[in-house]
Amino acid sequence: MNSEALFAQTVKRLRTARHLVVFTGAGISAQSGISTFRDPSTGLWARYDPKELATPAAFAKDPALVWAWYSWRRTLVNEAQPNAAHLAVARLAQCLPLVTIITQNVDDLLERAGSKEVIHLHGDLASARCFQCNRPYLGPLPVGVGEDCDSLEPPRCAHCNGQVRPNVVWFGEGMPEQELDQAFTAARDCDVMLSIGTSGNVYPAARIPTLAAEHGAWLVHINIESIGAASDKTLVGDATQWLPRLVDAFA
Ligand code: APR
Repeated sequence: MNSEALFAQTVKRLRTARHLVVFTGAGISAQSGISTFRDPSTGLWARYDPKELATPAAFAKDPALVWAWYSWRRTLVNEAQPNAAHLAVARLAQCLPLVTIITQNVDDLLERAGSKEVIHLHGDLASARCFQCNRPYLGPLPVGVGEDCDSLEPPRCAHCNGQVRPNVVWFGEGMPEQELDQAFTAARDCDVMLSIGTSGNVYPAARIPTLAAEHGAWLVHINIESIGAASDKTLVGDATQWLPRLVDAFA
């Protein structure tokens, strides 16, 4: 099915959708200037070693390096603006009876574009917690941190004086149970799923689109490259092009 036919079919399905799930990855924030992870040249993992920055062992070994790196990423997010794709997702939620928004991203651009109750499967840069006792950290979080900053002492927990860590899911850690359960339940229930800007590399999050399709949902990827199984349907192109068109077509 060519993209225009797939687009028309998807609009038709959205018009009668009882429950839409929007599932997003780093690609939806790319046009806001936030790096994706696996782009061969600009991706974060092409420039940084996740083993040195995105694991509990990395934080234990050098908390100031990890805290500085996430403070730099938080600075980038705070300086970025939601793009047309984020704004279109917020409009979708106003046009349909039930929309569940699930993201793997740790930025808050969907919320800043107006989406409510976004399910963050991999945590978020806007919050932090104690590495020792896991209690939330309620103090200020550093911004204005440059990419060249490679050491920034993390604050201390008010309860146990432990070191404060970013509230993101690191490699080797489980995803938050409640969010995972909400996401899988929505995937099984929805009749349309838009999987936007994700390479589908990281499980269990990557299971969500296939779970929706297995339960009969109309699953469409929106991605600058064809993605998923050969039988999967992809609107190939930029999310900031396809999503506003989708919403304009049926809203
Ligand atoms: N529009 C649509 N898709 C895009 C755009 C765009 N403008 N730019 C990039 N993409 C697509 C890429 O083709 C790729 O398939 O977005 C996807 C980004 O893939 P990744 O960089 O692997 O990011 P993601 O899928 O979100 O990674 C999942 O991996 O490292 C972990 O925790 C991290 O949440 C992340 C998880």
